[in-house]
Parts: sequence; C-alpha cells; structure tokens
Amino acid sequence: MQGFDRRKFLKTVGISAVTAGLATTVGSLKSVSADEVDWFQNVNRVKDPLNKTPKEKGHAPVVQWPVNIKNGEPFNLDIQIGENLHPMTPNHYIQWVEAYMGTDLVSLIEFSPLCPQAKVTISVAVKEVSTLRILTHCNLHGIWETVKTVSV
Ligand SMILES: [Fe+2]
Repeated sequence: MQGFDRRKFLKTVGISAVTAGLATTVGSLKSVSADEVDWFQNVNRVKDPLNKTPKEKGHAPVVQWPVNIKNGEPFNLDIQIGENLHPMTPNHYIQWVEAYMGTDLVSLIEFSPLCPQAKVTISVAVKEVSTLRILTHCNLHGIWETVKTVSV
C-alpha cells in the first residue's frame, strides 16, 4: 500500500459509508444512521496484551507520560511505534501519527522514510480525566491504535 494518500482514503471511506447507508435505506425498510457506521473497522489493535503477536509488538503505539501531571498543565507525551521499534526504511515505514484527547485531535505528525526513528514527543494537557487515542499508519501494515486513560 505504498503511496498511501490519507486524504483520499478518508474521502473514500466517507463516500463508501454514505453510499452504504443510502443503499441500505433504499434497499430495505431498515436504515443505517451515521452513528451506526463502524469507521474504525479496519483499525488494528492489540487483541491480548499479555500475548502480543510479533506484528502487534512492532506496530501498536506505546505511550508514556510523567507520573505527576497537573490539571490543565502541559506535559510531554512520548509516543513510540511498537514496543519493538518499527523500522523506518524507504520500503517500510510509519507515515503518520495522530494523537486525540477524547475526540479532539491534539497532534498530527507526518514522517518520511528519512526520519530515523518512529518515535515522537508531543505536548498535551489534561483536565481531570481524558481518553488518549493514538493512531498510526504503516505503509505496509495499515492503521494501528492504542487507547489509554490519562488522569490527573
Ligand atoms: Fe509495518
């Protein structure tokens, strides 16, 4: 899946979802609302954290943050792609990383194959409790997600 165009992908997924909803609505009495579409059906996640596969170890984002964070104050969030750091070569590399707090996009980082390591540190802030969602895309192995709860 070399040359992955993220914008084109998102447009296609959106159009497919809308088309699927219309087809279902027209084809039967049962309709599908936008809320029922599984936008993340092709997202890979670790299935068993105690027994990760080699592919999960190489792709699922790993995140770390300081023990003592304060309400609303910025702190550094370290993101590494894979507990076994994912390679960055011209034929196999991480293309982007997105960080969300709840449903809000906090950072979008794009990599080229020339980036030496699939890791990044970003600044984030949390008010009391938030769901941290990290999404990343490998040019060969698709989208991977890690979700954590961050609390002050
Ligand atoms: Fe990969």
